[in-house]
Amino acid sequence: MKINHPLMHNNFTKSDMIEVKKLLNQKNIILTQSKKVKEFEAKWSKWLNVKYSTYVNSGSSANFITTSTLRLLNKNKIKNEIIVPSLTWVSDISSVIMNGFKPIFVDINLNTLSMNEEQILKRINKKTLAVFITHAQGFNGLSSNLIKVLKRKKIHLIEDVCESHGALFGKKKLGSFGLISNFSFYYAHHMTTIEGGMICTNDKKIYEITRMLRSHGMARESGNPQYEKIMQKKYKNLSPHFIFMYPTLNFRNNEIGATIGINQLKSLDSNNIKRTKNFKFFLTNLNRNKYFIDYNIEGSSNYAFPVILKTSSIKKRDLFEKKLKKANIEFRRGNAGGGNQLRQPYLKKILKIKNFNNFKNVEKVHFFGYYIGNYPGLKKEKILKICKYLNSLEI
Ligand SMILES: Cc1ncc(COP(=O)(O)O)c(C=O)c1O
Repeated sequence: MKINHPLMHNNFTKSDMIEVKKLLNQKNIILTQSKKVKEFEAKWSKWLNVKYSTYVNSGSSANFITTSTLRLLNKNKIKNEIIVPSLTWVSDISSVIMNGFKPIFVDINLNTLSMNEEQILKRINKKTLAVFITHAQGFNGLSSNLIKVLKRKKIHLIEDVCESHGALFGKKKLGSFGLISNFSFYYAHHMTTIEGGMICTNDKKIYEITRMLRSHGMARESGNPQYEKIMQKKYKNLSPHFIFMYPTLNFRNNEIGATIGINQLKSLDSNNIKRTKNFKFFLTNLNRNKYFIDYNIEGSSNYAFPVILKTSSIKKRDLFEKKLKKANIEFRRGNAGGGNQLRQPYLKKILKIKNFNNFKNVEKVHFFGYYIGNYPGLKKEKILKICKYLNSLEI
């Protein structure tokens, strides 16, 4: 039986195309970062309820600039550890390593796919600079206690919200709690700007640094004319246009991406309501004897349906994959980012962890966890058809 269910469908709409055409039809257009980027950043900040946003060319760039900013601001060199999840995207970890920090891994909870709080608290010591949480696949990973402890111990909270646009903790959107937060606008996520990312903060100095790091490290990109003047005075021998404050690259996005972003933002909330309804409907129709369904869905905003098998048989799992392929249901094994990061080759030379006893939940997801698509246009009948098919499989 063919069900034909892609991971994402129609995430670039006709109305996005109309807006892009309008942009391209203007006279003397500038398509590199300009007015539309500024407008998108202002609208995003308002939507998220933060003061500042910096639009970049990907969520990974947002991760990299964020950890680079932490490095630049970190005067206490003893603090060189960042606590990270074992289930996340590769760039959350590689950006930590590339900026000279030591990643300290913790396991996840199965009901949020996010970091296990008990393990976070155990790993905190005098070297801990930050906790870089990932709100995986639309679930909230925060608790009041975690926020309170981090505040008391003066440990930065950094939020990766690349997979959880619009999800809430209490009444506030995820991404508005941390010192810095990151979003991705890659095609497969809640909204897209083709490629793209956002770095958000309420701290003016951090905002100015992220702007410079986005753009060759140039002083004139800080967005602060006073700072620019001081630097021009300080570095009299340099051309005022070319004062490079920090070693970095070009992570800018452009006017086409921003135009799409402004338009997509208009329907983000209403699309998320549809996704959440779909998500709940999916969970109520899935067989709980075969699949894990006990997620903490409070405030969640899921762009995908997680499908975690209860079985521990690799043979049955392989059969499950075969059946999904046969029905043309697109899937990814390992949920967010391909499962346990600790098993990835890029970490082999850095970490010596071979015993995964402390990482039981991420191991479960690594071998038996999947996600399939949950897009706003998905109809109830199709969800029922998918559930019926999944429930009929011998696992
Ligand atoms: C949690 C998380 N962080 C960061 C990223 C990187 O975003 P991008 O693909 O826009 O570089 C992703 C990508 O899917 C992600 O899922």
